[in-house]
Amino acid sequence: MGTCKFKRVMLKLSGEALAGKNGFGIDFSVAMRIAKEIKELVDMGVEVGAVVGGGNIWRGREGEGMDRATADYMGMLATSINALALQDSLEQLGVSTRVQTAIEMKEIAEPFIRRRAMRHLEKGRVVIFGAGTGNPYFSTDTTAALRAAEIEAEVILLAKKVDGVYDKDPHKYNDAKKYDKLSYIEVLEKELQVMDSTATSLCMDNNIPILVFALDEDGNIKKAIQGESIGTIITRK
Ligand code: GTP
Repeated sequence: MGTCKFKRVMLKLSGEALAGKNGFGIDFSVAMRIAKEIKELVDMGVEVGAVVGGGNIWRGREGEGMDRATADYMGMLATSINALALQDSLEQLGVSTRVQTAIEMKEIAEPFIRRRAMRHLEKGRVVIFGAGTGNPYFSTDTTAALRAAEIEAEVILLAKKVDGVYDKDPHKYNDAKKYDKLSYIEVLEKELQVMDSTATSLCMDNNIPILVFALDEDGNIKKAIQGESIGTIITRK
């Protein structure tokens, strides 16, 4: 058992992370691998909140001329499906969880109640926040930033396909340079596309560090929590 740098964290996963190689839908072997990594944190005594995107099910305004708000509501439903999938994988491993949704769907999950979420976390339950912020025009990154502030998480663990933040797309450019550290302002000014600007600003205003790392390398979540220098850390500087 290693030492933990953080007591309470917010893990942000993209919906695509759950899709695995298929790029669409839910690959339960991938969900289980992620769940195992989360379990390691819980076993170390770390309190974990989680937000999952919905892009594996619904990628926004695909239908031509579609109303933005309607498309966003569909996205919120997609995140709720993913939240239940992650919950199921975690519970198969014996991890206690609660799903709370920003849009009431009481038959399926608890409604989001901040103080209740905090109690669940204190009791060692992983709390997965579904249905975004409940509002169109806000991303799941913003949800992660908002919920992180609300539950007083010490850091946002932002799981990505790449192992940090680069000055340009490392999939397209061989000479892309990785940053070890960045400030919120740099992310905004350089338009580095880590999180959208609403989410980044919310983290900046509430001084919540963002640790960007690759999810597809086993054990990375644990390394991140133990303060090993992986990925890119974004702080006020
Ligand atoms: P404690 O008060 O700490 O014991 O928390 P708890 O979540 O175990 O208490 P509660 O008795 O409220 O919940 C028991 C179970 O019912 C848990 O699995 C909850 O997730 C679930 N639950 C609670 N409220 C709701 C709700 O509004 N909708 C749904 N679908 N499930 C709920």
